[in-house]
Amino acid sequence: MSGSGEAELLHTFKGIPFTTRSSPELLKSLDTFDAREDDVLLVSYPKSGTHWLAGVITKLYDTQVTVTSPIELGDISRLDELNKLSSKRIIPTHLDYNMLPPNFKNKKCKMIYISRNPKDTAVSMFHYYRDNPNLPTVDSWTAFFDLFLKGNVVCGSWFDHFLSWEEHKDEKNILFLFYEDMKQDLPKVVKEITLFLNLNVSDDDIQDICKKSSFSEMKNDTEKENSDPSHTVCALTSNRKLIFRKGAVGDWKNYFTPKQNIRFQEIFNEKMKLSKM
Ligand code: A3P
Repeated sequence: MSGSGEAELLHTFKGIPFTTRSSPELLKSLDTFDAREDDVLLVSYPKSGTHWLAGVITKLYDTQVTVTSPIELGDISRLDELNKLSSKRIIPTHLDYNMLPPNFKNKKCKMIYISRNPKDTAVSMFHYYRDNPNLPTVDSWTAFFDLFLKGNVVCGSWFDHFLSWEEHKDEKNILFLFYEDMKQDLPKVVKEITLFLNLNVSDDDIQDICKKSSFSEMKNDTEKENSDPSHTVCALTSNRKLIFRKGAVGDWKNYFTPKQNIRFQEIFNEKMKLSKM
């Protein structure tokens, strides 16, 4: 990472790098956040398909729901803003399990965790870093690869994030999803989501929602919108083109050298020893 702007763009809270868009005051106050029983959390490590999942979920409701920007983004006034929302809240977050406001856990709010092959996640994040002025500059894929493996990127280590949530995957209020399964059979995953959220959606409607949630449809829709970045799933950019980049499985093969692949695999095997999945 080149030094330019890094100090102003990132800070560390409880050992995890956050962008300065997440104020330390807000992060400190999250512990007191007042969750509602019907809140739904969309949890992910960045670049795992959060926008896709949010796009699908909002289409499943026939009542008014609001997808907020991530709970950890903004200054302290965010909490008041969220408290004032009268509609049902769908709240994205990139927080690891240990940093999640305890109220969500105590009230057994429904939480959907979406994960993606970390190699594709790394490549997606590399592009996001490279093209997003709100994130530190990266000089090259090689430099970013090292940062990613060390967890020296926004939201910290992919491995720590995944493992912190995986430990809770069998809890009734948590649903674990994979980007690759959504790519392979979206209607099947959407059905699973409707059952988890207790929503009554016909198979025909599910098919229709899946068509409207394809990569090309979502990319087209978003180019027409003029969204306010402080009220979107990402909130780190108003340039929607950065979010809908390629939408593919296996793009990592175009970036990883054989040597990087071996190194990644070694670290993956070591870190994921603790994983049951
Ligand atoms: P790529 O950069 O590999 O293209 P997030 O929403 O968590 O930031 O994740 C962004 C990634 O999800 C991007 O990956 C983006 O292209 C992909 N994505 C977004 N919408 C998608 C869709 N409808 N179908 C498939 N992939 C999608």
